[in-house]
Amino acid sequence: MNSQALITEQAVYNATLIHRTDVTPELSVVRFRPDSGLIPEFLPGQFIKLGLPREEGVEPVQAGPGRPRSGPRLIRRAYSIASSPRQRDCVEIFVVRVEGGKLTPKLWVLDLGGRAWMDDKISGRFTLDPVPPHKDVVMVATGTGIAPFVSMLRTYHDQPRWRRAVLINGVRYAPDLGYREELEALARANPRVRYIPIVSRDPGDGAWTGLRGRVQVVLDPAVYESQVGAALDPDDCHVMLCGNPEMIDSVQAMLAQRGFRPHSSDQPGNIHFERYW
Ligand SMILES: Cc1cc2nc3c(=O)[nH]c(=O)nc-3n(C[C@H](O)[C@H](O)[C@H](O)COP(=O)(O)OP(=O)(O)OC[C@H]3O[C@@H](n4cnc5c(N)ncnc54)[C@H](O)[C@@H]3O)c2cc1C
Ligand SMILES: NC(=O)c1ccc[n+]([C@@H]2O[C@H](COP(=O)([O-])OP(=O)(O)OC[C@H]3O[C@@H](n4cnc5c(N)ncnc54)[C@H](OP(=O)(O)O)[C@@H]3O)[C@@H](O)[C@H]2O)c1
Repeated sequence: MNSQALITEQAVYNATLIHRTDVTPELSVVRFRPDSGLIPEFLPGQFIKLGLPREEGVEPVQAGPGRPRSGPRLIRRAYSIASSPRQRDCVEIFVVRVEGGKLTPKLWVLDLGGRAWMDDKISGRFTLDPVPPHKDVVMVATGTGIAPFVSMLRTYHDQPRWRRAVLINGVRYAPDLGYREELEALARANPRVRYIPIVSRDPGDGAWTGLRGRVQVVLDPAVYESQVGAALDPDDCHVMLCGNPEMIDSVQAMLAQRGFRPHSSDQPGNIHFERYW
């Protein structure tokens, strides 16, 4: 490698893959450590952008007018941070491998110690800021959309940040339930935390004995009340939706009929959402 390429690589790659746990062959929990040793301060629920080179090797390009920085062209994608802001030496994310996707198949072949680009800022408004601490927080996730809620629960499970936290995670198959053991343990230890997994494509082999269907099943008033021991009432609850955009649209429409309203900066409401695509 010539010295120009070396400078380029140092300028662009600023993080290292330090951990990978494969939940299934298609779902992984990974951690990246920034070269600086410290990620920026953030709030649970926010996301960071990560990047990998578009092509193999280092391809020098012009980054923009007046910024004669060069480096490989990157594919950048946003990822909700699953780790708690109490831990600043790395970011943990929960990723699904999207067949035919541009970035995730490259992440799947990145070895431990592999280099990546990590944004030096963390963004996003999908936080608990608009949720008063005397309300129930109803967290609804499909697939990897559970990540921001894991960060919230890791951060606030032992604090009076909510009256009750109810986490509903809908996945295709039971093994897709990322963080299941951690969340079950957290809910066992804390009566103000409920964890309700639901599986939509259970093969019916008897291994899964929990709820079946999509997350909407749990949001049915009678099912919710039997699972949680309280009503899903717009006066008492804020609902946070994360993951599949069709789920978000569908649940939002369902809750609107029951008196919930989407939150925006000019119109406070009790539905908050983060679309992954
Ligand atoms: C704010 C934000 C936070 C995000 N956080 C996460 C996260 O924590 N974990 C995560 O896995 N992804 C997350 N995503 C999605 C992520 O940014 C990428 O889109 C995803 O990893 C696919 O990238 P790709 O280049 O491989 O696929 P692309 O070439 O970008 O193909 C995208 C297609 O893949 C599908 N898709 C994208 N993301 C998902 C997903 N998570 N689950 C199911 N199908 C998907 C959609 O059909 C989409 O059109 C987030 C997106 C946003 C906007
Ligand atoms: N998860 C895996 O094991 C796996 C394996 C290989 C490849 N992939 C690929 O990875 C990508 C993401 O898969 P994923 O399973 O993580 O995410 P996903 O497709 O969003 O599915 C996650 C959960 O969301 C449900 N869902 C879908 N639309 C919904 C809606 N409108 N309302 C409520 N719930 C809804 C699904 O139910 P339904 O089952 O009813 O759709 C499933 O229970 C896909 O492109 C997939 O092909 C995933």
